[in-house]
Amino acid sequence: MEFKNTLYTRRSVRKYTEQQPDKSTILTLLDAATQAPSATNSQPWCFAVIQDRVLLKNYSDRIKTYLLSILDTHPSLLKYKPLLEKDNYDVFHNAGTLLIIYAKPKGPFACGDCCLAAQNIMLTAHDSGLGTCWIGFAQDFLQKPDIKQELNIPAEYTMVAPLILGYPATQAKPLIKKKPEILYWKK
Ligand SMILES: Cc1cc2nc3c(=O)[nH]c(=O)nc-3n(C[C@H](O)[C@H](O)[C@H](O)COP(=O)(O)O)c2cc1C
Repeated sequence: MEFKNTLYTRRSVRKYTEQQPDKSTILTLLDAATQAPSATNSQPWCFAVIQDRVLLKNYSDRIKTYLLSILDTHPSLLKYKPLLEKDNYDVFHNAGTLLIIYAKPKGPFACGDCCLAAQNIMLTAHDSGLGTCWIGFAQDFLQKPDIKQELNIPAEYTMVAPLILGYPATQAKPLIKKKPEILYWKK
């Protein structure tokens, strides 16, 4: 796909087929992630891949329970209460693959570097006919020390980006993006 077309047609995908991306496809995406720029070329990223549907369902259930338990202190989540209460709502949109990007403790820019790596994954995936969606709902949960321990992630690493991945079951609708808001431009 032409780069501009890839950039402008990528959409978050929330409906997937049963087909799992294979290992070489995922390794290609992780390799694309590592092409991102990083502060002082520190390349602070590392990855986890979960393709176990039972574990993903278990995590989705626990995430919903967790998010519902913090509604009192997180009013911004209140609008999601009806969704989170639905038995059949899966925070991972029933995707069979979750890619997680972690930042090693390598200075103040490590999380930003990992976000750039995440964007490389999302664009490369779209360019190869795959869909992705960043799952912010999973963020706090995956950052918990006991969950990192479950996944063999060193405690000092920061969970930055949980990305679901799979083959889109439907074509995502185009989305109109806001025009750039330019606050200052001195000539
Ligand atoms: C940091 C971040 C967190 C997000 N969290 C979620 C999420 O928990 N669930 C979800 O379905 N989409 C999530 N999204 C996807 C956004 O809703 C989506 O990017 C936005 O609506 C714009 O649509 P587009 O990605 O198709 O351009 C998240 C995106 C970002 C960047």
